[in-house]
Amino acid sequence: MQTVQAHTANKKKLTARDKSMKLFKHSLLAVVVILSFGSTSCDRGGQVAEEAEAKAAKMVARMTLDEKIGQMSQLFDGYFSDPEQFRQAIRDGRFGSLLNFYGTDKVNEAQRIAVEESRLGIPLLIGRDVIHGYRTIFPIPLGMAASWNPDAVKEAFRISAVEASSQGIKWAFAPMIDITWDPRWGRIAEGCGEDPYLASTLAYAMVQGLQGDSLTDPTSLAACAKHYAGYGFAEAGRDYATTYISEPVLRNVVLKPFRAAKDAGALTFMAGFTDLNGVPTSANEFTLKQILRDEWGFRGFVISDWASVPQLVDQGYAYDERDAAAKGIKAGVDMEMATTTYFENIKALLDEKKITMEQVDNAVRNILTVKYKLGLFDNPYVDPDGVKKILDPSFLEHARKVARQSTVMLKNENSTLPLSADKIKSLVVIGPLADAPRDQMGTWCFDGLPENSVTPLKAIRDLLGEKKVEYVPGLKYSRDKNKDQFSDALAAAGRSDAILLFIGEEWILSGEGQSRGRIDLPGAQSELLTVLAATGKPLVVIVMAGRPLSIGDELNESDALLYAWHGGTMAGPALADLIFGKESPSGKLPVTFVKGEGQIPFYYYMTKTGRPATEGTWIPMDKIPVENPQSSLGYESYHLDYGYTPLLPFGYGLSYTTFTYSDLSLSDNSMSITGSVTVKARVTNSGSRDADEIVQLYIRDRVGSIIRPKKELKGYKRLNIKKGETAEVEFILTAADLAFFNGRETLTEPGEFDVWVGPNSDEGLHAEFIVKKN
Ligand code: NOJ
Repeated sequence: MQTVQAHTANKKKLTARDKSMKLFKHSLLAVVVILSFGSTSCDRGGQVAEEAEAKAAKMVARMTLDEKIGQMSQLFDGYFSDPEQFRQAIRDGRFGSLLNFYGTDKVNEAQRIAVEESRLGIPLLIGRDVIHGYRTIFPIPLGMAASWNPDAVKEAFRISAVEASSQGIKWAFAPMIDITWDPRWGRIAEGCGEDPYLASTLAYAMVQGLQGDSLTDPTSLAACAKHYAGYGFAEAGRDYATTYISEPVLRNVVLKPFRAAKDAGALTFMAGFTDLNGVPTSANEFTLKQILRDEWGFRGFVISDWASVPQLVDQGYAYDERDAAAKGIKAGVDMEMATTTYFENIKALLDEKKITMEQVDNAVRNILTVKYKLGLFDNPYVDPDGVKKILDPSFLEHARKVARQSTVMLKNENSTLPLSADKIKSLVVIGPLADAPRDQMGTWCFDGLPENSVTPLKAIRDLLGEKKVEYVPGLKYSRDKNKDQFSDALAAAGRSDAILLFIGEEWILSGEGQSRGRIDLPGAQSELLTVLAATGKPLVVIVMAGRPLSIGDELNESDALLYAWHGGTMAGPALADLIFGKESPSGKLPVTFVKGEGQIPFYYYMTKTGRPATEGTWIPMDKIPVENPQSSLGYESYHLDYGYTPLLPFGYGLSYTTFTYSDLSLSDNSMSITGSVTVKARVTNSGSRDADEIVQLYIRDRVGSIIRPKKELKGYKRLNIKKGETAEVEFILTAADLAFFNGRETLTEPGEFDVWVGPNSDEGLHAEFIVKKN
């Protein structure tokens, strides 16, 4: 039997524990796991940080106002059309950072000018959107979140940093850690889903991966936690729309992953486009000053989003750009991205006493501190030999692993999957996503190349041989409504032993500015599925999409369904591994799947309501008698048409094997308000093959000073359990893990708690405990 310890978020204990666990791991051969946050080597430091700050402060004292303003400005490649003007601007210290400017020679030449020809020799900071890979593209972050594997995610971000840094990039605008409850929002693809705990553990891992073990390592990038804060709550999922977020939801949900990123040592934060309760996040003193600086002690710098400072005028928060610049600076946005409101207005604002030199100096010191921490003053150059570190076979292998672990099996009737590569005589591959190298990379990948993508069609042909695999796209692209190829697809299906149907969304249907009002399968894909289902041939559906689509009908009609998101460069081989059983699917949903848009928002940790709907009391719309008189029929919290459950719950995902949970036990049925309780359970692989299971720990605080969520994830662990074996999983739940913000203060309240350990947010073994006042 394996013994596994998982840990819930408990800040202080982790470092010491981590060390002792390493020893334990070696001596007992047990898998020992500590989840979550602690202080990191990235921020290691007090001393390094103080030295960097001291150097930055010294430099600020030597700078002219023009040089200071330059450091607060980030321009994009191509801003100066004349190359000599560009070089002169570097000499003049006109800007401190560039975005979308990369390539070893270009960067080295720009840095040479900055260091050798500008008055103070301040190096540039080169930033880029490296969101889920640079050239080796990993699954979209929402997909990576479905792996529930912080170690693998950390490694993916490490690889991204190695590749990107070899091109002169020193700063990634990642991780994007906006929690959202709205699958209409196109940027759901870029984040970690709906849950603050899962997102926090992944945010922490992502920052660690980008920033590496030492910030001065040539492969380390500065991370940028974005978009701070609340962007994922844009009304109706309409990108850039307003957000209204109560302070308890802000602190208990939205800010959690940002706090984790800060704790992991993230050097920078990015403010957002949206407003938060009426105050734009790019001018929000509450989030940027009070919370980030005063409460959390953040010592890095904050950049605006692209043009989000002048946008304050459009939002109706500033009279003009000068006013906007003043508001951004006063709130603590240290650097302006892409636009020139700071550059054009800081002098006048100082003259008019609308801002102070101290505010300018603080911003510049924050920026220079990061440059010192990254070691740019010592070595601003890129090693031209770094290029060989792109698309390394080990990187591609990791991308394949992450894509495999990100895929969630949502249905497998009659064990349709896995298919046997030996037994299959002929297979038909159908669908617009089967051979779509660009689409499988997903949104936000500027540097991934379609020619490096291995598509599912290619991977399946490589495995089975060309002869056994017939391919009919059926539809040319996901939005295609032309059904001319349906008959060919049907004919090919008739000749085959099984159908593999690859459907979903093109990459351009999710990401920034790509929100959808409807979240069903676009084009005629559903109809294609329906006609194929009618053939009676085993129908395996693979959905490749940037969001959780409403796929209730498609689930019903298919025999097996794999939800593969946009899986990146190696999506094809990863899917082939799963389809033909090299490995079992093991991903779990990082977001609730809704039946339809009308259910949005639907997230598993909603607060409890009066009149909760229960099984047996829901009256579906079609069952209400015609001309029924006004009565107390129903009168519970549900929709007449959708009912009260989502399509699929958070945390859900199937395997080729079965796991049986047993023996839930608590070290005590009570804990003190400063104490902890150890929760143990056994998980047996009761099926016929080795596989991974993601064991999840949820709690419920039954009564609170404000109503508490129905359930809250507080721990999880991905375990590999061999067939017939049992693992014992152990979570240490501290009273601090139960704390929440109640509108006035953050506290753990004494009282009764439920705890579940199980395979998803809907199922699990149950126990209860009491938190006592000391
Ligand atoms: C706007 C996006 O909101 C942000 O996430 C991104 O980093 C910047 N543009 C730079 O491309």
